[in-house]
Amino acid sequence: MNAAAGREAAAFGGPNYGADLFVNATPVGMSKNGAASFNAPPFDFNAVGKKAFFYDLIYNPRQTQFLYEAESRGHQAENGLGMLIYQAILAFVHFTGLAVPEHVTNALFDSLSFSKNVVLTGFMGCGKSTLGRRLAEKMAVAFYDTDNLVEKEEGMSISEIFSQKGEGYFRRAESDVIARLAKRRGAVISLGGGAVKNPENISQLKQNGVVFCLDRDVRHLLGRPQQTRPLIKDKTLEEIAALKAQRAPLYEVCDHKVLIKENDFDANITFILDKLHEMQQAPSGN
Ligand code: S3P
Repeated sequence: MNAAAGREAAAFGGPNYGADLFVNATPVGMSKNGAASFNAPPFDFNAVGKKAFFYDLIYNPRQTQFLYEAESRGHQAENGLGMLIYQAILAFVHFTGLAVPEHVTNALFDSLSFSKNVVLTGFMGCGKSTLGRRLAEKMAVAFYDTDNLVEKEEGMSISEIFSQKGEGYFRRAESDVIARLAKRRGAVISLGGGAVKNPENISQLKQNGVVFCLDRDVRHLLGRPQQTRPLIKDKTLEEIAALKAQRAPLYEVCDHKVLIKENDFDANITFILDKLHEMQQAPSGN
């Protein structure tokens, strides 16, 4: 850390780490079952200068809590994917005696580096599943729908799970599915509209993914769509709108909002793809 940055850190009254580069070489932050594994190493971000650079040797998840904290404070940060790839190439060269041309190295890095999941959330009936399936087709990646996965695992429809086992049971099954999906890479994941009720679901998904929140007029739900959704079955438009308003702050956790253009899902998909492209171009967009 240079003298000016040191003074700046000291001015906050906290410790002064006296360095410009911070490397997490511990397993803290690695993907594992259980919330505790997502913790960041103990670190006081007030004790570093603005130019401090953060490096995490971990590459799965792509964004550990450590990197998330650094990036959200405007620091440059990088995960361990590059190290993984370049040490593998050196090992290959060492053991085979063959050369690896630079364009192969670059292509390998590019193909592995943007593999975040695209996570779709938003209130019931906003088109997450339909849009998600089409987006996944367009991106040629796998598509997962948490409601479908819960139904498959439980061998029951969502309505049956709610009526026979209760909402609490459904939420736990939903969180289990999400914990597994959060460890995947390069997939499109459509969430049930209530998954945001558990912040842990979203923080896990954000480690490997970018979260888009879709917004659509609730009138769309009236009639048949509401009958398959236990929380709004037989409710009036006003009651559904009130639930949506109550949920609104929970959807603020998303990275980008998408206002659904009726009958123009292609425009919505283009919007999402453009956002992903922008992220890929950004210095820390991997
Ligand atoms: C729910 C949304 C539903 C489904 C369940 C609960 C909610 O998914 O998970 O009925 O609490 O918002 P959709 O958003 O796909 O309708």
